[in-house]
Amino acid sequence: MRISHRTPEGKEAYPLEIPQFGLGVFLMTKEGECKNSVLKALDAGYTHIDTASVYNNEYEVGQAIKESGVDRDSVFITTKLRRGDATGYEDTIEHCKRSLELLDMDYIDLYLVHAPPVNPEHRAPVWKAMEYCLEQGLVKSIGVSNYGPAHLEAMKQYASYMPCVNQVEFNPWLQRPHLKQATEDAGARVMAYSPLARGHKVNDPELAMIAEKVGCTPAQLAIKFCYDEGCITIPKTSTPSRIIENLESLSFDISGVYEQIKSLECNYVSGWDPTSEP
Ligand SMILES: NC(=O)c1ccc[n+]([C@@H]2O[C@H](COP(=O)([O-])OP(=O)(O)OC[C@H]3O[C@@H](n4cnc5c(N)ncnc54)[C@H](OP(=O)(O)O)[C@@H]3O)[C@@H](O)[C@H]2O)c1
Repeated sequence: MRISHRTPEGKEAYPLEIPQFGLGVFLMTKEGECKNSVLKALDAGYTHIDTASVYNNEYEVGQAIKESGVDRDSVFITTKLRRGDATGYEDTIEHCKRSLELLDMDYIDLYLVHAPPVNPEHRAPVWKAMEYCLEQGLVKSIGVSNYGPAHLEAMKQYASYMPCVNQVEFNPWLQRPHLKQATEDAGARVMAYSPLARGHKVNDPELAMIAEKVGCTPAQLAIKFCYDEGCITIPKTSTPSRIIENLESLSFDISGVYEQIKSLECNYVSGWDPTSEP
């Protein structure tokens, strides 16, 4: 999938291809858990890993990529600036360099502001620093996460490059049409985190019933829905069999049950939701 950054003149800058499916590594906290999961995923054919400074496992992601023997250029790495570190221009650049060190890489493919900086006055300088990282080649693309329509709108006042991605919670139970539209209007793609609502909904009987009609597992149905909605989709699992199961979700045709999945919407937030903060 193609991503790029819209300029104030309406041009597209720094275009890039992003794999639309990847492995999320949130809550892989036991020593070796993240490394083993990434190794398994790369072996299964994953080409995109979503980590973050706050997950404390960038080091293991880097280790896994080296140990796997795959070419650095054939894997897409997304990582994020911790919200508590998003306090100013210099801090942002310093933390980007720190992530590069931990990953032991020359560049990050996609660098995200993990959530709108708590102090609204920090939002512009943090973004200007993200743009600096882009221009300097420390990162190949920049984006945001957990930004609501108002946060995106405000960026138009200070951004030379709008974000190419807004990573937000998105799944059959939280479909966010307004936020999705606002993200696309800003020239960005939606990146769907918690596509399984953090596992809270994989045993949902309605989901199971629809999945049975398709002949896939409930988790596969939820993942494929996010993907077919045009979202970059990054389910997390550290269970080896599920790493394969989740990747295989891409091969199912869910068009015959699409409306039934759509009707699961219930505005369910499984984790946090900073998108509506001031
Ligand atoms: N930007 C943000 O603020 C933000 C917030 C949350 C998440 N994220 C990103 O999005 C990624 C995914 O979201 P998430 O980790 O919150 O939740 P998720 O992917 O919706 O769900 C993960 C949970 O579902 C279970 N699971 C995975 N595959 C399964 C399957 N096939 N069958 C049954 N259960 C399954 C996992 O268990 P096991 O691991 O035990 O198999 C885990 O408990 C994260 O890892 C992270 O990279 C970003």
